[in-house]
Amino acid sequence: MPTNDSWLTVRDGHLCFDGADIVEVAGGAETPFYLFSERRLRHNIAGLQEAFGRRSPRSEIFYASKACSNLWFLNVVRDAGINLEVNSGGELEKALRAGFEPRQVVFNGVAKTRAEIAAAIRVGVRALLVDSLHELGRIAAVAAEVGRPAFVAPRIDVHVPTATHPGLETAHGGKAGIDRDAAAEAFRRAAADPGLEPVGLHLHIGSQITSVDPYRQALSNALDLVDEVEAAAGVRLQFVDCGGGFAVPYRESSPSGAAADYFCSRVSLDEYAATICGVLEARRPDLALFIEPGRSIAATSGVLVTRVENEKTKRTRDREGRVVGEERWLTIDAGFNTLLEHTNYRWYFRTIVAARADEPADAEFRLAGPLCDGGDVFAGDDDTPYRRFPAGTSVGDLVVFLDAGGYTLEMMNDYNARPRAGARAVTLAGDVVEVRRRETSSDLFAFDLTPGFEP
Ligand SMILES: Cc1ncc(COP(=O)(O)O)c(C=O)c1O
Repeated sequence: MPTNDSWLTVRDGHLCFDGADIVEVAGGAETPFYLFSERRLRHNIAGLQEAFGRRSPRSEIFYASKACSNLWFLNVVRDAGINLEVNSGGELEKALRAGFEPRQVVFNGVAKTRAEIAAAIRVGVRALLVDSLHELGRIAAVAAEVGRPAFVAPRIDVHVPTATHPGLETAHGGKAGIDRDAAAEAFRRAAADPGLEPVGLHLHIGSQITSVDPYRQALSNALDLVDEVEAAAGVRLQFVDCGGGFAVPYRESSPSGAAADYFCSRVSLDEYAATICGVLEARRPDLALFIEPGRSIAATSGVLVTRVENEKTKRTRDREGRVVGEERWLTIDAGFNTLLEHTNYRWYFRTIVAARADEPADAEFRLAGPLCDGGDVFAGDDDTPYRRFPAGTSVGDLVVFLDAGGYTLEMMNDYNARPRAGARAVTLAGDVVEVRRRETSSDLFAFDLTPGFEP
């Protein structure tokens, strides 16, 4: 089996995730479906609690619920004892439904509506993270209407480049956050407004950051700004929120050996914590540290189980139309309707054929999704166009995508009128329970209206 992941084992040739035989689970569930592991989820949270808590006892973890906001998932997160970062009114509602106290929630977002701001202030979230000077004014106005103070932490673009996918970089002149030169002004305005209380400074440099250096730089820049804004605005901040971004090893090694292969991370949680807590403790041990990890909690806690529905062999031709070879194609029942990241960011997820987990994976296949788009073809292994599977892989086989618990379930859609997938979870007791029902065909037109066609 092409992985060293100890959460994946093989029993009677079948791939097991946290001990659950995936072939058996798929016997009672329609594919595609996500399969989570409660034990793995708790393990990921405990790793962060240990790494950061040991070094900064006043650190607090706010799980970035955008990575997976399924209610069962959020209940486990709450029960594991950490807080929540939300990015919309909808995520705030889910947080409250899952039993989080408002004081456990920080509210992010780059286009918060007045209604979302009012809801956040009314329930009393811990802090609103402010994306612009305009938004600061909007929050002040809404706080006055609601008649309650708003605790704010301006989000500052600390201008640090990262080597992640460009779509995941957020603090290098992109759309998020306040320009660093306007930071002092933001805090001055917040301090001067009777409805606002500036409590912290927020930064988030991006997702899947495979080196600690950007964190060292970003936090140093942020602490320079804390000194500056405290002097300028006459305030004393309570916390610095360092955001998320800790990387997941989607690949165990880099095919090209490239240092900037963002799929291949070798940085441990301990190293992230040592860097971040080290910088903070050296300069401002009085400040509490907030972090907002999403991917590092969610990704490895789930896999996606899909089935091969079609196969073919097609010849490959050169520009003149001469046959130069042939390719075997497998088409599975999940495409970018179920795993959007595979096309929007060309994301790479390792795959294993569940019932052939002990066979050598040495035959090359093109792997495609079921959608009508020519682009619904999965990236290959090792930067080739091909996935390596056992030679006998064919229609009916289950293809399992690993590390698929983060930024996946959240992004499903019903393009081509394909019902969104369901989800199951392996509990601590080893039972497999349903945590999201699969959509039915009536869900597909539940929101459509037909004015003019009613009898
Ligand atoms: C503001 C903010 N905080 C936290 C996160 C979580 O990042 P990650 O899932 O990489 O930990 C994100 C996602 O990019 C974000 O935009």
